[in-house]
Order: sequence, then structure tokens, then C-alpha cells
Amino acid sequence: MKKKLKLGLFGFGCVGQGLYHVLHETHGVKAEIKKICVKNQSKSRPIADSFFTYKKEDILNDADIDVVVELIDDANAAFEIVKTSLEHGKAVVTANKKMLAEHLEEIYELQKKHNRPVLYEGSVCGSIPVLRNLEEYYDNDLLQSIEGIFNGSTNYILTKVFEERKNYDEALKQAQELGFAESDPSLDVKAFDPKYKLTIAILHTFGVFVKPEDVINIGIDKIAEVDLKYARENGYTIKLIAQARKIGDKVYGFVAPQYIEATNPLASVRNEYNAVQLEGAFAEKQLFVGKGAGSYPTGSAVLSDISALTYDYSYEYKKISQERQVFFSNDALVEAVVSFKGEDIVTSKEFEKFEGGYRGNGYQFLRGTVKLEKLREWSANPEVSVILTTTSKITPLQPVDKKALSFA
Ligand SMILES: NC(=O)c1ccc[n+]([C@@H]2O[C@H](COP(=O)([O-])OP(=O)(O)OC[C@H]3O[C@@H](n4cnc5c(N)ncnc54)[C@H](OP(=O)(O)O)[C@@H]3O)[C@@H](O)[C@H]2O)c1
Repeated sequence: MKKKLKLGLFGFGCVGQGLYHVLHETHGVKAEIKKICVKNQSKSRPIADSFFTYKKEDILNDADIDVVVELIDDANAAFEIVKTSLEHGKAVVTANKKMLAEHLEEIYELQKKHNRPVLYEGSVCGSIPVLRNLEEYYDNDLLQSIEGIFNGSTNYILTKVFEERKNYDEALKQAQELGFAESDPSLDVKAFDPKYKLTIAILHTFGVFVKPEDVINIGIDKIAEVDLKYARENGYTIKLIAQARKIGDKVYGFVAPQYIEATNPLASVRNEYNAVQLEGAFAEKQLFVGKGAGSYPTGSAVLSDISALTYDYSYEYKKISQERQVFFSNDALVEAVVSFKGEDIVTSKEFEKFEGGYRGNGYQFLRGTVKLEKLREWSANPEVSVILTTTSKITPLQPVDKKALSFA
């Protein structure tokens, strides 16, 4: 039997307003917003002033409020809101991937301690139903990998840069105006945002807690005109790809730009759309595509979580108990092309297997197989652009435990 939930909403920006709209347009979800807490007292609001408060206690201490919907852009304040809400016996819905990725294990423990759920479908790839599918549908197939386009604003920027030959800054400004970009755009273009999402996805795919600082993130901010030219001449596009793969008893995962062939289904995922490709031992590959950012798409994912709470849904984190112990590792090889201006910033000796290189327009391009940690080192250099090859795959550095492989 469904109950009518009273919601206390934190944040009334892009996603908060999106939720307000989709909640009022969707009939059948038994929930209503009682109070909205925001920050800036001088901002004018598009709905009645009586909804708003500037004191978090007006929501957190209100026994009539069943669910706190946390949609603010401050990860530290958000974690305090989530923690206090659970302590006060309230369920939580949030879309704050930074906060979640940084506190996943604590939030998992807090849910058990207070016996109240935290749902966060909107935090990973906006409107695409990723987490509940991983929890429910994929609870009985051995998942081998998850990969895809996890960030709407960088995909929008790359699409505009490739298809309309817009310059990078102009495309970023447009993504911000359309509400796809994070308040701090470096979270997107330096690939922190998709890294946070990957961290959350790794938990629900493989049952492994990983700290976001352990996941390598290489952004699109150093992609130069020569890289775009290289891609166009070879019939490729470039996408920012998040990927994680389980091999033996290890999970490898990172985010980096990658050259993508026109025949790859990810090549046709354009603008703010995201894509998630799952590979199971038996189901094999499945691709989900949908809007990964924006007011209404993210609002609809948040609404779906609220609706799930009306029938007492909670994540069971089934993979944590199902999986034999697996560990996160960066000890792997991938294939990459590095480009840089000038002399010997990167040398062929630094590759594990050097495939060749060329010079053009004052730039050097070097291609080969390289350790993930080396990619991290190169990507920290503002002069170096790192892009994975079209055929790059994760190869463990250590020999794989054969017994574990038979279950991979
Ligand atoms: N935008 C997207 O497409 C998208 C997609 C998926 C997930 N998300 C996540 O959703 C969350 C919200 O994003 P957004 O794009 O909606 O942000 P936004 O448009 O910048 O809005 C942020 C809202 O949070 C309020 N706020 C900030 N600090 C607060 C505090 N301490 N107490 C109360 N309210 C506070 C702001 O209040 P004022 O109105 O007074 O300034 C504003 O209403 C973020 O975690 C983001 O990562 C966003």
C-alpha cells in the first residue's frame, strides 16, 4: 500500500526546480513538497515564498517530513544534511555524486545503523536507470565491465567541437547556459564528475568500495586542435569514457578521453546524452542511452527514487555480500596516444611497448602500451594531452589468479 510522503527539499536550482516541475506533472506519485531550504535570501523564487526557508532545522527537525531530498551544490553541507536526516529517522534522496563518492562507505554504514534508506539514482548518468538495474536486474549475472559516457557537459562540448567546429570555450559556455555543466566547470572538463559517478557505479556493479582519489581521471581540457585533426583524419571522434572491468580478483577503473571509431555505438551518443554499456558473463553487452544531465531528466530520476520510497525500496548492496573478495587496483596497462608541443616531454622509453610516433605542426605524437600510473603522471603535465586508442583495453600488470578468472 502506497503512503503519501511529505518531502523536505534542499536546493531549488536546476535539479530542484526540475523535480518540482516533474512532481507536479506526474500523477500517481504520492508525495508532496512541504518545505524548501535554500541559501541566498536575496534571490527571487519562481514559486510562493511560503515554501521557502533558510534554516535547515525547519526541515531536519520537522517530524512530519518523511523524506529529505538533497539537491544542493555543496558536497560538505550535503553530507551533513544526509547524516542528520538519517539520524532523525528520515529517508534521503540525493543526486550529489561528489558527496556520495567521497562518503559511500559511511553512507552505507549510516543506512544500516539508522535503518533508513538513501537513494541516489540521479547521481549517476541523470535520467538513465543505472543503479536500480544494477541492484535488481543484474543481481544474478556475473558482471564483467561497465563503461560509457558518464558526463553530459563534456559530451555536449565534444559534440559541438566535432560537429559544428565550435571552439572549446564557446561550447563550455553553452553547456553552462543549458544547465548541463556543474557550478564548478572544472569538475566536468577535468573528469572529476564522471570519476565520482564511476566510483558509485563500481560499488553497485562489483560490490567494491573505492576512494575517488584512487580512481584516475584524465579530462578533456588539454585536447588540442592537433588531436581533433588526428581524429578527423582517421574517421574517429573523441569521447570521455569512464570504464571499470573486473579481471580475476581485481577491479580496474578510470576515466580518460578515447578515440572512438564511427562504427562504435558510443560514437552516436551526442550532446548531453550519456551511455552506459554493461557486459555480463551471460547477458553479454547491453547499452543504455539517455539524457545524462539537465533539469527535467535529472528531476525525473529523483522523482523515481521518491516513488520507490513509497513502496519502501532500499538498496540492498547485494554485490557486497555476493562477491568473493575483490580489490580495486591501478596495476594495469592500456594503449594511448600522447601529444605535446616541443621536444621530449614524453619519451618512447616510458612506454611498456612503443608502437611508433610522428611529428606534425610542431607537435609530437607517440603511441603505445603504457601503465595506468604513467598516464596519471603524464596527464598532470599541462603540456601533455593523453587520449586512449580506439582498441585500448585493460590488461593486468600482474599475472591473473586463474582460479579467480574462472569466476570473472
Ligand atoms: N544540473 C544537473 O544536470 C545535475 C545532474 C545530476 C546531478 N546533479 C547534482 O544535483 C545537485 C544540484 O545541482 P544543480 O545543478 O541543481 O545546482 P544549482 O542549480 O547550482 O542549485 C543549487 C541549489 O542549492 C542551494 N544551496 C546551496 N548550498 C546550500 C545550503 N548550504 N543550504 C541550502 N541550500 C543550498 C542553492 O540555493 P540558492 O538558490 O539560494 O542559491 C541552489 O538553490 C548537485 O549535487 C549536482 O551535482 C546535477
